[in-house]
Amino acid sequence: MNRRDAPAVDPGEEALGRSRAVQSTQTGPHEALEAVVARHAENRFAKPIAEYNRQAFASVADRVDTDERSLILDSGCGTGDSTRLLAARHPDHLVVGIDRSADRLSRRRTTTPENCLLVRADLIDFWRLAQQAGWQPAHHYLLYPNPEPKSRHLKRRFHAHPVFPAFVALGGRIEARSNWRVYLEELSIALEFHGRATRLSPLDIGPEPLTLFERKYAASGQPLWRLTTTD
Ligand SMILES: C[S@@+](CC[C@H](N)C(=O)[O-])C[C@H]1O[C@@H](n2cnc3c(N)ncnc32)[C@H](O)[C@@H]1O
Repeated sequence: MNRRDAPAVDPGEEALGRSRAVQSTQTGPHEALEAVVARHAENRFAKPIAEYNRQAFASVADRVDTDERSLILDSGCGTGDSTRLLAARHPDHLVVGIDRSADRLSRRRTTTPENCLLVRADLIDFWRLAQQAGWQPAHHYLLYPNPEPKSRHLKRRFHAHPVFPAFVALGGRIEARSNWRVYLEELSIALEFHGRATRLSPLDIGPEPLTLFERKYAASGQPLWRLTTTD
């Protein structure tokens, strides 16, 4: 495999400071993006939901109060560092971190606050289950999603996937971070297509990185970006 196409791996301590910027032939939003987003907005995503995702959803659903916006989602939370930090910062919210990698979720390095739940599930199903259950997160974090930088892998990016309307329907203040600005430019276009206003800005992480990947990218001097909804 060409090294630049290698999937993102969890940064070990030795890797800090040596992370390479995303390489892609794309220098701006994919030319097919708007057509893909529009198509997914028109068509119901009918892929059956896997039983293990139903069980994972059921294991946390009892804790979620759907009448109140006291929920924060951390989608693709990896090791859950960000989920724990967000739970500590928002003691009045329940913070749910979701990741499909059992391996990453098992690398628990600090104690998990009582208002923090980590669940292993595929977001492609989990977001639809959350939407069906009427979840209304106050904040929804998407921190360093896999960039899938090959142009032909556009549809692997969440905003170009048929599940995207379910992600948007969950609502709340969305915050996405990435070391690949193009990903966030595309996410912005897709969100604005669905009527959300967004702002894309450079990210100054300050002394406390929110995630392991953020720490790695910052340590290697890569510019980081943040997209937030502003409405
Ligand atoms: C680059 S890592 C970032 C992890 C973490 N947010 C961080 O910044 O350290 C992307 C994460 O998204 C997760 N992921 C990708 N696609 C997913 C999906 N469809 N469902 C659940 N998790 C997914 C991966 O397992 C991985 O942990």
